[in-house]
Amino acid sequence: AAGPLVLGIETSCDETGVALVRGRDLLADVTASSMDEHARFGGIVPEVASRAHLEAFVPTLDAALERADVDLSQVDAVAVTAGPGLVGSLTVGVAAAKSLALSIGRPLYGINHVIGHAAVDELVHGAFPERFVSLVVSGGHTSLLLVDDIATSVRQLGQTLDDAAGEAFDKVGRLLGLPYPGGPHVDRLAREGDPDAIRFPRGLTAAKDKHRYAYDFSFSGLKTAVARYVEACAARGQALPAADVAAGFSESVADVLVTKSLNACVAHDCDTLVIGGGFSANSRLRELAAERAAERGITVRIPPIRYCTDNGAMIAALGSAVVRSGAAPSPWDLSTDSGMPL
Ligand code: KG4
Ligand code: ZN
Repeated sequence: AAGPLVLGIETSCDETGVALVRGRDLLADVTASSMDEHARFGGIVPEVASRAHLEAFVPTLDAALERADVDLSQVDAVAVTAGPGLVGSLTVGVAAAKSLALSIGRPLYGINHVIGHAAVDELVHGAFPERFVSLVVSGGHTSLLLVDDIATSVRQLGQTLDDAAGEAFDKVGRLLGLPYPGGPHVDRLAREGDPDAIRFPRGLTAAKDKHRYAYDFSFSGLKTAVARYVEACAARGQALPAADVAAGFSESVADVLVTKSLNACVAHDCDTLVIGGGFSANSRLRELAAERAAERGITVRIPPIRYCTDNGAMIAALGSAVVRSGAAPSPWDLSTDSGMPL
């Protein structure tokens, strides 16, 4: 295989990821997660995540090098998530990446995590078309991107104004008494319910929002509507139709995500929609995207779920594209940016 050998490092949240990519070929991708340590707190504890990265980093790096059967000295460039994410977690990865790059005398590239979620699909489904739309959805982000070149030209069309889609699912999971993180549980429950039994609001789709917020999202009003419904049931002493609530809620989220993504494809003349981020696992999102995209002749690309959740491969993939584009490396005083814009 040809191309530079890029080491990718991801530590923006609770996953420590290290991967090796040559060109568009993935040689190794190893992930350690501290989610088990956070589950009992019902949310990510930043200090716990930072310490877990510190402990997991060297073993994860060693495992990746071994799996790829390469030596650190063969690495041509080091790519690392510089943001967005938790500042303490990002700092561990950026400090490690600097040390490694300096020790082997190779350039360092600071990478945007959100764009990485889109970039990883190239390792799975091959080179991207000239222009495409990408929906990045997870517990931390919900963004719609217009991509002309994954390395050099990505524009954010819109994003969530409040909760991320996965975050909304986790909150509704809590309302329904499901374990954390609630997303997958709500998804499973929704399969048993009637999506049309309860009609929940579709955020930022009303006529007054259509132009100003065409590609933005809002899930907090929906989450409040679910909370009100649950409270009203309890006040009336009625049993909660939890499966119908889950199904109606899932339908609203998937409907808005798919409608706005496909509208963006049509408006920008794109025949490809790339979906990434941990929320891509959502079954209703997948169904609705496949169904409605087919009607419009749009191809949907979603990488296998292990590449949708946070991992090193996405950072190595984007790092590889950036190196191949000839862009300048990051300065050695590269810092983290927890709110990094595109
Ligand atoms: O990308 P990810 O692993 O972590 C970050 O947020 O960075 O995304 C996980 C998020 C969580 O909020 C989780 O509850 C949600 O995605 N999620 C799901 C499903 N699988 C994961 N939400 C709904 N349906 C699913 N099947
Ligand atoms: Zn992510």
